[in-house]
Amino acid sequence: MENVLITGGAGFIGSNFVHYVLAKYPDCKVVVFDKLTYAGNLDNLQDVADDPRYHFVRADICDTELVQQVIQEHEIQSIVNFAADTHVDRSILEPGSFIQTDVYGTHVLLEAIREFGLRRMVHVSTDEVYGSVVEGSSVETDNLLPSSPYSASKAGGDLMCRAYHVTYGVPVVITRGSNNFGPHQYPEKVIPLFITNALDDKPLPLYGDGQNVRDWLYVLDHCEAIDLMWREGWDGEIYNVGSDDELTNLELTEMLLELMGKPRSLIQFVEDRPGHDRRYSLDSTKIHQLGWQPRHDFEEALVGTVRWYTENRWWWEKIKRGEYEGYYQTQYGRRPVVSGSGN
Ligand code: NAD
Ligand code: DAU
Repeated sequence: MENVLITGGAGFIGSNFVHYVLAKYPDCKVVVFDKLTYAGNLDNLQDVADDPRYHFVRADICDTELVQQVIQEHEIQSIVNFAADTHVDRSILEPGSFIQTDVYGTHVLLEAIREFGLRRMVHVSTDEVYGSVVEGSSVETDNLLPSSPYSASKAGGDLMCRAYHVTYGVPVVITRGSNNFGPHQYPEKVIPLFITNALDDKPLPLYGDGQNVRDWLYVLDHCEAIDLMWREGWDGEIYNVGSDDELTNLELTEMLLELMGKPRSLIQFVEDRPGHDRRYSLDSTKIHQLGWQPRHDFEEALVGTVRWYTENRWWWEKIKRGEYEGYYQTQYGRRPVVSGSGN
């Protein structure tokens, strides 16, 4: 195998991918390149810290000089790009860094591939670039209609990848995944936020009417899809990665409370997220044709995820106490609009 630069490898999906690659490919050298924003966390990588095949560089993908230096020093052959600002609520409050990292940073990586003739970059993108899909499912050729500064920035990154492929022949594959869940997800995203709040008998702030629909993909299924794209994807192509496990947020919340043996009265309806997309839904036929299918049953994976947060309070309690740089906010000052409806 080869030397791979995993940008954003200290975050949720990136760190799961680092573990996946080190376990699956004994001959791979993994260089994690991560700025360690509030979402990047070396606790996610502590168990591989002594592996001689693993190296960590704290740096910003917007820093052209450093990106190019690390690629040369470590004789990097490919890049898997997870680095991004990722939380929609934060993008609504402060869009600037999203545009910087998710668009400009992607451009810096593409330039480096061009400069050094790397084999490939897998650019990890999102179903949110298609915008809200009330009926049917998005295919890869659909128009991009992003609704939030986050999804607009991700769409910008995707379009830079396309332009670099068409104009310069840069070998890049784009994946568009649906909502991931699993261990090591920062507890501002709905599943870890609701699990950790419920463990502490705190309210679960459900936005709007709770009828927004998301498709839930277990993080290891996503890692397998990215791995396939890294090895066998077609340059210049886009691949949707969905699981066909669509739920309303209310259904998801009720399921979590039931699994955890917690009362329904913990649900607290709060003001909606501005521009809140009603539904995402992916048609993943194209990646199925290359042999990928999600292998994890949704409910079993959710049970495993609840167990992980239950057994790893050390990991999330210090985040919620605000012990890392940055800040931790849950409800962004939203007012409750309807109180919980009892058990
Ligand atoms: P995350 O927020 O948990 O991690 C992002 C990582 O990127 C962090 O380690 C952070 O420190 C790093 N980072 C941010 N800005 C950087 C910069 N300028 N330079 C270097 N590193 C930087 O995110 P995640 O949920 O693991 O998502 C990873 C990728 O997958 C993102 O590109 C996201 O858009 C995409 N994605 C996420 C989901 C999901 O449901 N979480 C679904 C589909 C696609
Ligand atoms: O679809 C893929 C995307 O999924 C990724 O590209 C993003 O990086 C990732 O953050 C995620 O975006 P969402 O906005 O869908 O995820 P989030 O966990 O923030 O919210 C999921 C749903 O739950 C959404 O409809 C909003 C709702 N929600 C969220 C929070 C944090 C609540 O009702 N209450 C909450 O407190």
